[in-house]
Amino acid sequence: MSRGGAGIASVGLPTLAEYARVARAGMAAELWDFVAGGAGEERTLRANLEVFDRTALRPRVLAGVGRGGVGGAGIETRILGRTWAAPIAVAPMAYQTLIHPEGEVATARGAGSVGIPLVVSAFAGRSFADIALAATAPLWLQTYCFRDRATTRALISRAERAGFEALVLTVDAPHSGRRTRDPRGDFRLPPGITPVNLPGAGAGMGTGTGTGVGAGIAAAGGHALADFDPAPDWSEIAWLRSISALPLLVKGILTAADARRALDAGVDGIVVSNHGGRHRDGVPATLEVLPEVASAVGGSCPVLLDGGIRRGADVLAALALGADAVLVGRPILHGLAVEQQDGVAQVLDLLTDELTDAMALTGIRSVTDAGPELAYPRGRPAQAADAQPPADPRPPVGPRAMSGPATLAKAELHSSVSDPVLDTMNFLNEITHRYPEAISFAPGRPYDGFFDTEQIFTHIRRYLEHLETSGYSPARIRDAMFQYGPTGGRIRELIADSLRRDENIDVPPESIVVTVGCQEAMLLAVRALISGPDDVLLVSSPCYVGITGVARLLDVEPTAVEEGPDGFRCADLAAAIRAERARGRRCRAFYTVPDHSNPSGATMPLAERHALLELAAREDILILEDSPYRMVSPGRQLPTLKSLDRRRRVVHLGSFSKTLFPGARVGFAVADQVVVDRVGGTGLLADELTKIKSMVTVNTSPLSQAAVAGMLLASGGRTADLNVETAAYYGEAMRATLDRLDECFPPAPSGEPAAVRWNRPDGGFFLTVHVPFRADDAALTRSAEGFGVIWTPMSYFYPQGGGEHSLRLSVSYLTRAEITEGIARLARFVESESVSRSVSGPVSESVPESVPESVPEAESRPVPGSVTPSRPTHTPTEPTHPHRKAD
Ligand code: FNR
Repeated sequence: MSRGGAGIASVGLPTLAEYARVARAGMAAELWDFVAGGAGEERTLRANLEVFDRTALRPRVLAGVGRGGVGGAGIETRILGRTWAAPIAVAPMAYQTLIHPEGEVATARGAGSVGIPLVVSAFAGRSFADIALAATAPLWLQTYCFRDRATTRALISRAERAGFEALVLTVDAPHSGRRTRDPRGDFRLPPGITPVNLPGAGAGMGTGTGTGVGAGIAAAGGHALADFDPAPDWSEIAWLRSISALPLLVKGILTAADARRALDAGVDGIVVSNHGGRHRDGVPATLEVLPEVASAVGGSCPVLLDGGIRRGADVLAALALGADAVLVGRPILHGLAVEQQDGVAQVLDLLTDELTDAMALTGIRSVTDAGPELAYPRGRPAQAADAQPPADPRPPVGPRAMSGPATLAKAELHSSVSDPVLDTMNFLNEITHRYPEAISFAPGRPYDGFFDTEQIFTHIRRYLEHLETSGYSPARIRDAMFQYGPTGGRIRELIADSLRRDENIDVPPESIVVTVGCQEAMLLAVRALISGPDDVLLVSSPCYVGITGVARLLDVEPTAVEEGPDGFRCADLAAAIRAERARGRRCRAFYTVPDHSNPSGATMPLAERHALLELAAREDILILEDSPYRMVSPGRQLPTLKSLDRRRRVVHLGSFSKTLFPGARVGFAVADQVVVDRVGGTGLLADELTKIKSMVTVNTSPLSQAAVAGMLLASGGRTADLNVETAAYYGEAMRATLDRLDECFPPAPSGEPAAVRWNRPDGGFFLTVHVPFRADDAALTRSAEGFGVIWTPMSYFYPQGGGEHSLRLSVSYLTRAEITEGIARLARFVESESVSRSVSGPVSESVPESVPESVPEAESRPVPGSVTPSRPTHTPTEPTHPHRKAD
């Protein structure tokens, strides 16, 4: 019978709150306070619970989703290569033998019986070996930063011997929190309750006094070996890596900055946790900070959350806001108290059952489908059953109660701001700033050497003279330059003229909208064409992030059409259209960069271009053609899709960022499609885009348009002629890069596929290199820090996951000398990663990716899939002895 048990029959109780109530009724008051209490005034403890009460789930009706069984297909979750029955695990909690003599052994049995993993505390009351014997689901070890590292070594070595599968380093409790429920520190660990896995724990160590973490310190009898490091730092991660090959998670992260730091340090997972409010009062609720942490992590490793999970709907809310799984703390102890191992199983069963219910009721088919649109704050604080806060006369603290400067919750802003795709530049920028000496193959920007400030004035002056010779009075010229201009643009005739000469695209000037960069052209086109949730935007994958970001801003979820080894294949697009149609959706447009694409470097062959136009007509879709690298690539280019388009299926998106300079921010859309209104009136799609533009940027800067116009006038409308030198320069840069790659990565012995391979674009700024390790943010950090070379992970460019073993090199921005040195550094980095990989054994590699050929406008980075960072694995060294402290 449990120490605190109420002798309840083995019928499950209806809610987790009931388990708390019944557990409390059967428990000594001081034990209840030890389990339920928090630090200080328990503000964080309460906040953890209240935030879930304030979070509403937004249901989708008639979604065709039925209710799966517990542990059924919809809720199974893969974390660190293992399948869990649900996105739930048991949080580490010290001294479960306080609740029942079987302690962690009973918890392991109960959790295992429903397929739920258990994180075992460093201060477990039962031995790792016994727990492992009882367990049937994965076991992880939670540890602290002990002052004496021998303590940690011994602990980890015991856990490894018992078959534990991962380490969780708790970093949020360097000191005991002050527990208000036990101000006199009366809570005593009864005799026999000891941290048996800590070296030196034995008779006499279980008789101390203290509260919370203090109880653990006391439990270890003040044994110096169990002291915590008073001022731990990030070097702890590297050290743990050096003594254990197990995956390492860090528990206690509450900010994006720390999440990034943890990733840089090479962790394999992050637990957003405030220790259930037990140590630091006043820190935020975990759900509040989850979106910021998840966004910083960007899918590079699993993100778990704990604190306040009391219902299945809470689990779903956490998944929606960015968690891959949750840990459950106190309710497990309640179950253990009520019905021992069966109680633990019942609590977890109930939670997974409620989660399945919540998913069916909100129209979510699989836990991986829960996204930020599902959960939103409702702004109603409430009280939960197991938190017994001392009376607090002050008004609740929070944005709504503050009279000072406004504070906004990120979770209350549009979900796109928390989306990794809109944050993609930050990490690259951060890395570039942190390692200024590194050679960067990341930026997709033109070479500065071509710019001369005088050009700006020359171009503008030429345009002004052109206006004058065209009969403009000084007053009209002033008006043209100083005033708001026509929304569609002032220089449409000049652009139409150059399109005819350069590209054989013959369209009337009225079908052109001059935009603020090509980015605005994408926004206008997607806004106009996608009119509801059943309209589909298809994109080739890997894909330029500008279009993915636009889609995200407009709440459009693009459908990715994966490129094959030789780039885009029409058959794949046709299959994607059929699949969407079978789901009752209407495909509207396909976005593609047919020439020297960003990011892959691929160029669509002529036959495929013809086939694509046929397909577009057959399937009644439009093609959004974005092709900014043609004029700055050497040699003859294939015809644009628009020049081949006889049925107005192509909306051509143009840019002057490469042919003139990006700072002008001038692009355009050619939209000559006829639009018919309800009463039979007709206009052009360009007119509709212009209406949207009038509410976005009003008009493109006349000064910038003047600069572009001056450039077009200078070349007699032949942009290609003006860019001959530029194209030769970039062509040479690409050739130099390819030659250097050939030198630095000699071919594999005959017959063997090369471990490092790349495509050979004949133009554009970009190429793709396949490598035999995960080319993720962690690898990029190692590359920048240890080898002084920066590149872009290709996984950034896959809207629906992929590209984990490829990187993008941009050749446009570097000098020849930098290319030569940069590729040599890359080769050293690749060699070092390959060596660590062979030391750590085969990485669970996905199907090798294809290496296509070509890339876009500036740089941004998109939607990482779920990627586990690779890292060198170290051979465990001999453990010595150990230890003290717990919670
Ligand atoms: C804990 N927790 C904890 N965490 C940890 O990393 N090591 C530990 O030894 C303990 N011990 C511990 C004991 C008790 C009695 C409780 C209640 C909690 C914190 C735990 O892992 C988790 O972060 C919180 O419990 C999660 O909050 P909820 O689910 O209890 O609200």
